[in-house]
Amino acid sequence: MLKIGLIGCGFMGSMHANCYQNIEGVQVTAVADLRREKAEQLAALSGAEIYETGMALIENADVDAIDICLPTYLHAEHALLAMKKVKYLFIEKPVALTLEEGKALIEAAEANGVNVQVGQVIRFWDEYVELAKIVRAGTYGKVIHANFRRLSPVPGWGWEDWLLDARRSGGAGQDLHIHDIDYVLSVFGVPLSFSSAKNTLGNTNDYVCTLMNYPDFVVSVEGTWGLPESYPFTATFRVAFEKATVENAGAGLMCYDKNGAHEIKIEKKLLDGDGYTGGNISDLGGYYNELFYFCDRAARGERIERATLPDAVGSLDFVLREINQ
Ligand SMILES: NC(=O)c1ccc[n+]([C@@H]2O[C@H](COP(=O)([O-])OP(=O)(O)OC[C@H]3O[C@@H](n4cnc5c(N)ncnc54)[C@H](O)[C@@H]3O)[C@@H](O)[C@H]2O)c1
Repeated sequence: MLKIGLIGCGFMGSMHANCYQNIEGVQVTAVADLRREKAEQLAALSGAEIYETGMALIENADVDAIDICLPTYLHAEHALLAMKKVKYLFIEKPVALTLEEGKALIEAAEANGVNVQVGQVIRFWDEYVELAKIVRAGTYGKVIHANFRRLSPVPGWGWEDWLLDARRSGGAGQDLHIHDIDYVLSVFGVPLSFSSAKNTLGNTNDYVCTLMNYPDFVVSVEGTWGLPESYPFTATFRVAFEKATVENAGAGLMCYDKNGAHEIKIEKKLLDGDGYTGGNISDLGGYYNELFYFCDRAARGERIERATLPDAVGSLDFVLREINQ
């Protein structure tokens, strides 16, 4: 049994707890949250013991792996302590608030021999995994141009509204837009050059649009969380290849080519879990996939090779350069 210590029982901690419920051989045995009622809700799922703070859990809980779902500005200090305790550590994205913190984490992970995975979940999301396969296989020829968008209403759920404070979250650039940047860097590599435009009103930093220039194609990436509450959360992509255009815009993963339009079928996993998912783990999407990978690696004692700490720090570095451009 792989024993997980889960720190932060808010929005993402709840998502992770429900994923772990659906992974065989894994149990959340300790949870921590400043808000007792949040910790109790998640502890009830798996009979976990409760700690009042993340630091108390790290110092005292008997766990094999730790998962940090805290507000971003608290990631680094907790991760540095956790690296002295366990050999497998999951840190939600963005991995840290500053590049200096990111570099300190890389050094500490190497010094302590810790396997770290970061919650850059798009790398594990079925449609995006399929797109990466298509690009690498050259199924429809070379890429000509691509667009990735992530559009959200104002994120009002955070504890003490930490998300709306760019000094604690980094704003939409670091928190939201980093998902697509991390994915684009993972599939297409670092661009030859880029230019960014952003909303500079106040310190909310709530809109970023970046053009990334590659030798033979261009990628545009747009992210905002400044939209009204009634606006539906939207995450889409469109990639034009020589022989077809592939799009993920709410109607399934579509391929448009000279023969017409057809859906690219993706096998979604279905499972009789006892979590709140009602037995359909495809509801948990990439979150389930990334945590399954993390637990599988930890249970086997193998290296983490996807969504690694250096990958995540590279993405953070890129986004910080966009914001400061
Ligand atoms: N991968 C994704 O798609 C995704 C989506 C949302 C959030 N996130 C990331 O997940 C992380 C958490 O975000 P969230 O939306 O769950 O925030 P949240 O505000 O909903 O939850 C954070 C929780 O941490 C608790 N907390 C604060 N300080 C603590 C401490 N010292 N010890 C113990 N508990 C403490 C708060 O009480 C709160 O319950 C952030 O880094 C965020 O960027 C990732």
